[in-house]
Amino acid sequence: MSDDLNQNYMENNRKLWEEWVPVHVNSEFYRVDQFVAGENALNALEIGEVGDVEGKNLLHLQCHFGKDTLNWARLGAHVTGMDFSESAIEQANQLAARCNLDARFICSNLYDLPQHLMGQYDIVFTSYGVLAWLPDIPRWAKIAASYVKPGGFFYIAEFHPFAMVFDDYATDLRYRYPYFDKEAMHFDVEGSYADREAKIQSKEEIGWNHTLSEIINGLIDNGLQIEFLHEFPFSVYQQLPSLVPDGHGHYIFPEGKQPIPLMFSLKASKR
Ligand SMILES: C[S@@+](CC[C@H](N)C(=O)[O-])C[C@H]1O[C@@H](n2cnc3c(N)ncnc32)[C@H](O)[C@@H]1O
Repeated sequence: MSDDLNQNYMENNRKLWEEWVPVHVNSEFYRVDQFVAGENALNALEIGEVGDVEGKNLLHLQCHFGKDTLNWARLGAHVTGMDFSESAIEQANQLAARCNLDARFICSNLYDLPQHLMGQYDIVFTSYGVLAWLPDIPRWAKIAASYVKPGGFFYIAEFHPFAMVFDDYATDLRYRYPYFDKEAMHFDVEGSYADREAKIQSKEEIGWNHTLSEIINGLIDNGLQIEFLHEFPFSVYQQLPSLVPDGHGHYIFPEGKQPIPLMFSLKASKR
């Protein structure tokens, strides 16, 4: 796949995100007013696994409009968020002001970040719905690892790549997308995941699946040591139609079934 084509695909996606941001900020899904009023935005999973962030420098990759980033700031971290959508960064700055929190937000494509941001961080954090927008995982891993301070760590909580192979419209588990395929996948845009009814001009969303081993080996190859890899039979999002709410903020398969992993988390440190 040529770099030019991937650039075009990412530009297509950036335009889509520019349209999605205002929809998301005003959506029930993202609960922005409740967040401003003090509601927690992070899941118990990442709060528990990342641990105490008080006084730590934290870089949030693909931070969207900064809600999770600002939640880390509320927990005491000195935060920097980055995202390639200008409106996301604008909204992130407005949200920081509304919440009276200090934060720095940088608008950049992930792959251009070294041209916009220097320095290293105690924690490099990224979560839920980030990797499928990126065409090149070895390059992503190189950049993410470069921002980890010696003694610091990288942390990701993400939808499991194996769960991405199933048909996202079928009510049973039906194989649809190849796990090992490196080609870009094209999807029709229907509103947004946060509001299916939203009127959006963009027609196409482009994504890439990545294997778990590619993600892990990318981090190892760039000098990080894996502390843990966890796989979960529940999800923070209804990523497949057959999932049902478990009453505790997660989605699970009905009747106690746990056929496939839905999310993973990973912590990797730099010695
Ligand atoms: C699903 S969101 C992250 C969600 C986050 N967990 C949340 O709910 O707030 C994915 C983010 O990745 C950003 N993004 C996608 N491709 C990117 C790229 N190549 N460089 C930087 N940001 C990118 C999008 O703008 C979007 O804000």
